[in-house]
Amino acid sequence: MKHKIYATYPLTEEVKHFLEEHCKIKQWGGEGRIPREVLLRELNDVEGMYTAGGTMAGMIDQELLDHAPNLKVVSNVSVGFNNFDLEALKKRNVIGTHTPHVLDETVADLAFGLLLATARRIPELDRFVKTGSWKTTTKYSDTYGKDVHGSTLGIIGMGRIGEAIAKRARFGFDMDLLYYNRSRKPEAEERYGAEYCDLASLLQRSDFVLMMTPLTPDTYKLIGKEEFLLMKKSAMFINVSRGQTIDEQALVEALQNGEIAAAGLDVFEQEPIEPDHPLLKMPNVVTVPHIGSATAQTELAMAMRAAENLVAVLQGKKPLNPVQ
Ligand code: DGY
Repeated sequence: MKHKIYATYPLTEEVKHFLEEHCKIKQWGGEGRIPREVLLRELNDVEGMYTAGGTMAGMIDQELLDHAPNLKVVSNVSVGFNNFDLEALKKRNVIGTHTPHVLDETVADLAFGLLLATARRIPELDRFVKTGSWKTTTKYSDTYGKDVHGSTLGIIGMGRIGEAIAKRARFGFDMDLLYYNRSRKPEAEERYGAEYCDLASLLQRSDFVLMMTPLTPDTYKLIGKEEFLLMKKSAMFINVSRGQTIDEQALVEALQNGEIAAAGLDVFEQEPIEPDHPLLKMPNVVTVPHIGSATAQTELAMAMRAAENLVAVLQGKKPLNPVQ
């Protein structure tokens, strides 16, 4: 008999085809995010859940598990798994899986793109040209940005993606590298000449501060008012981790008060961000809608990996990427 699963994440034909060989799929067919009460009702007979991390997906917590008595596995189509209440999963013996490795280089591309776009004011100057504001009288100095090459990049969170960013920074842009991480990474130090330092000195010395740390209780609002005050006034802040790793209100104030120069953001405290949010009104803030891994190739690789993880657990095998 096929295993019943519920998918809150959209299924491509290829993934659906693979899953249907092993599972009977129920799926949210409505617009946008599935309402919590609908999800809870749908879970009463399923053994597997196919979903994603980030704030777009609901929390996999005690309440949800209480509504899903047969649940064996929750498979995330994301490397982040801050939507998992790990204690609750463990207590109920439900396995959580995620999709590391396959997205590392893609997220690093986006992080670097965001850094370049912020430093050279690319979206702002794109609007400048397209709205017909570029005139013979335009002062060239009004279009100045900040050099990326040869400057100092501080990476907070030197995991696999952090290392992929370090590689681009060191070999593509000849940057000096500082990093702050739970543990030291001797290989990154040797390969990319990255210098390990405490958070305060990284913030004080970096021209660009880039957040790439997972969201955990230890990293929740890691960067707030005091941390922004430590940064150079000319520093640019890039966040590709999770919105909740920073105090967003403190970021708004740091930008308003000129305590830092600019920000490039892929992630927000609330996603989608409210359209009237003050960050969206600042020309020195570059925003994208949480697209770190959003390329067709990588999304397919992640979606397939998540499907394989899910099926492995349902077949009583060890999944490739358990989170615990
Ligand atoms: C993830 O997979 O957790 C990332 O947010 C991708 O952008």
